[in-house]
Amino acid sequence: MSDASPRPVVEMRGIDKSFGAIQALVNVDLTLMPGEVLGLVGDNSAGKSTLMKILSGAYQRDRGEVLIDGVSCHFKSPHESRERGIEMIYQDFALCGNLDVAANIFLGRWPTKGLFVDRARMEAEASAVLQRLKVDVNHVRQRVESLSGGRQQSVAIARAISFAPKVVILDEPTANLSVTATARLLETMLELKRQNVAQIIISHRLNDIFEVGDRVMVLKRGRNVGERRIADITEHEVLELIVRGEEAAAGR
Ligand SMILES: Nc1ncnc2c1ncn2[C@@H]1O[C@H](COP(=O)(O)OP(=O)(O)OP(=O)(O)O)[C@@H](O)[C@H]1O
Ligand SMILES: [Mg+2]
Repeated sequence: MSDASPRPVVEMRGIDKSFGAIQALVNVDLTLMPGEVLGLVGDNSAGKSTLMKILSGAYQRDRGEVLIDGVSCHFKSPHESRERGIEMIYQDFALCGNLDVAANIFLGRWPTKGLFVDRARMEAEASAVLQRLKVDVNHVRQRVESLSGGRQQSVAIARAISFAPKVVILDEPTANLSVTATARLLETMLELKRQNVAQIIISHRLNDIFEVGDRVMVLKRGRNVGERRIADITEHEVLELIVRGEEAAAGR
């Protein structure tokens, strides 16, 4: 494949998903290029998290197609999507507070030496991942519950990155972060972008998306209602799409 026509790393086509009588997603399409940062926005209940949970295998679609590097996939669990290079970071991080940073990064796959956990190797590898992210959680022996929310999130991201993903999905990553922690997270996202990791960020804070995003995609009541390059749109215009959708915004 030549550089002139790069293939999307993720393509979702015609995705439908209902929960009982609620149609959460209707015929939704999404494309993500390697190294691209896509902002996924929309009002509450628009279907953003549901779409990402389908991509990560946490939910099953009712209809439609998901292609990863051009190959059709049907993930039945997050474990299966992880094997294809997709990592989703949930808002509650799902970390073990009573364990330290290194143990959390390698949770469920601690390196062993004989019968014992190989602490030295685990700590060295954890440090390497944190360095790759350029985050300042330098104490791999610190218990996660003693870290600030922002640094706990860095650990969750480090854990995701340790699987060497091609795609990282962040659902509302800055919702509970301070100004400095938000700036640090966005810097981490740019660092991942430099390493050609494609990312999808769900956020209600449009300025986050404008800082790191290449493109923004808008969902409204489970449908695609607009998609723009960040360079071609203002925050106000994105808000307009979120509230009124494409046709309404165009017919102003
Ligand atoms: N597990 C579930 N069971 C039943 N309904 C669900 C489930 N998950 C999502 N829904 C419904 O699907 C619709 C879309 O929800 P979703 O969480 O995807 O929205 P969202 O865009 O992420 O919203 P928010 O910005 O509030 O997080 C909502 O009506 C929601 O109530
Ligand atoms: Mg959500």
